Amino acid sequence: MTKARHKASKKRKTSPLYMISKIKIKNFKNIKETDITLLPGVNILVGPNASGKTSILEATYFLYKALIDAAEKTPYRPHIPEYWSGLDLIHGKDPNKNIEIGITLNVYLPSNKNDKWCHETIEGVVVFGYDAQRDTILPIEYNFLISNYLYLKINTNSIEIIMNKESWEASGKPGRNSASSIIEKKNKVILTYNIDPRRITSVFLHPRAIISMYETDFHIINYAIKKKGDNRSSYKVSFIRFPLLDIEIPVVLRPFTECSEEAKGIPVSWDNMLLNFLLSKVDYLDPSLAISLLFDAIRKIVFLRHPDAGALREPRPFTGSNRLNPRAQNLAEVLLTLHGRLGRMPERLEELISKAFPEFRVWVDSKFGRVVLMSEWRGIEMPPPNLPDGLIKTLAIGAAIELGPSLLLIDEIENSLHANLLEIIIDELNQLPVPVIAATHSPIPVDIVGPERTIVVLSERDGVVVERIRDPVKLRKSLAEHGVTFSDYIYGVTVKD
Ligand SMILES: Nc1ncnc2c1ncn2[C@@H]1O[C@H](COP(=O)(O)OP(=O)(O)O)[C@@H](O)[C@H]1O
Ligand SMILES: [Mg+2]
Repeated sequence: MTKARHKASKKRKTSPLYMISKIKIKNFKNIKETDITLLPGVNILVGPNASGKTSILEATYFLYKALIDAAEKTPYRPHIPEYWSGLDLIHGKDPNKNIEIGITLNVYLPSNKNDKWCHETIEGVVVFGYDAQRDTILPIEYNFLISNYLYLKINTNSIEIIMNKESWEASGKPGRNSASSIIEKKNKVILTYNIDPRRITSVFLHPRAIISMYETDFHIINYAIKKKGDNRSSYKVSFIRFPLLDIEIPVVLRPFTECSEEAKGIPVSWDNMLLNFLLSKVDYLDPSLAISLLFDAIRKIVFLRHPDAGALREPRPFTGSNRLNPRAQNLAEVLLTLHGRLGRMPERLEELISKAFPEFRVWVDSKFGRVVLMSEWRGIEMPPPNLPDGLIKTLAIGAAIELGPSLLLIDEIENSLHANLLEIIIDELNQLPVPVIAATHSPIPVDIVGPERTIVVLSERDGVVVERIRDPVKLRKSLAEHGVTFSDYIYGVTVKD
């Protein structure tokens, strides 16, 4: 990690960097409500069977399914093909409960004033409701919290924005004539814009529309207001335009306050020419940029379950996909895409394979628009059915890393992997500048990563309890004193009576 940090801090400060630092889940399968703070590198979920480990991974991936993947398809069914009904995802299958899933981004933006990184946090929480008529789950509310100074809530009746009152007043009370209602509190002001329900239905039924409001239709008008002779109280007002709703909402922006030489924790680099261009002209985090960053992070979530080795036996049509599906059925295709992008197999992946399977060589064969994973063992050609499961799993994880995920979710990481290979892979994942959440039933990953990176998942009467070890240093010390391994301790804690 030190190497990655070093590299990134030397990088020219042009494009925002971010890391998903927290996930939030409510009412998803057996999870009532939980927050999980993430570290870059491996975060291990450990707990008994049916405690909710997979549910945590699925809930997080559901953001991708619901806001990106399913949003491109009609009818809108984000729970398909994994679940029969949208109801199956809701806690207790209660149609009146709403699912909430959120992520927090730790963002570093390049300030063009002083060539420093400026730190902001952005939180996005999406509320999903059950639609009985269509038997599906629909997004019904979006909440965005930008650096604790700007709160934007978009639901099926209204758009609400909460700003700092002082800066709102100082910037000439923007929106005072256009808002449906204005509530002034002591420190904040709440502007509400009611929405014609006929319009909002079309937007919310197609989350793609919500996304495109921020991404393709990027209309912001910025102006700075300066009080005469007072430079200190200059505010920037930006208008977020919702073209599908015919609404323009003013937001008063705050200049960056926390800037430093280093981007701590080194997150994903975000490359978007248009936004980088816009960004290079401002020293404020615009809400449209904040929301685009959230969607960028969601788009790059990768989920891996146990690879479907059977599906890899047959050549598959090549569509140029750069999304690895959770069972890695399109692994050959993704590897070929990566190969095409680089003109060779990714170096890091080759290194991983030669370390883990020194007697193998792997490549992708393509003929007549079909692709298949081939290998050679001690110089003998091995067709896909002869590939060992562990090699497929290693390739899938290696390919997922090469895709540059914002967050990598791996269920039952130990499956098909020998203890030594598991250690190689966990070491590799620990080098990543982004979080990896890996679920396990095995003591091996737990001992490899230790108390700092372990998250215990227990199913209690009141729903799932997700906890990190409170004082990892103290625990390490006391385990060493008593000659107990960390995994023995953990499995002792998680045994049910
Ligand atoms: N809609 C639901 N409401 C409440 N509980 C559910 C729902 N769907 C599944 N479950 C329960 O949630 C748990 C899922 O656990 P899972 O995440 O697969 O466990 P693990 O991966 O830790 O073995 C199971 O106990 C299952 O019965
Ligand atoms: Mg599981």
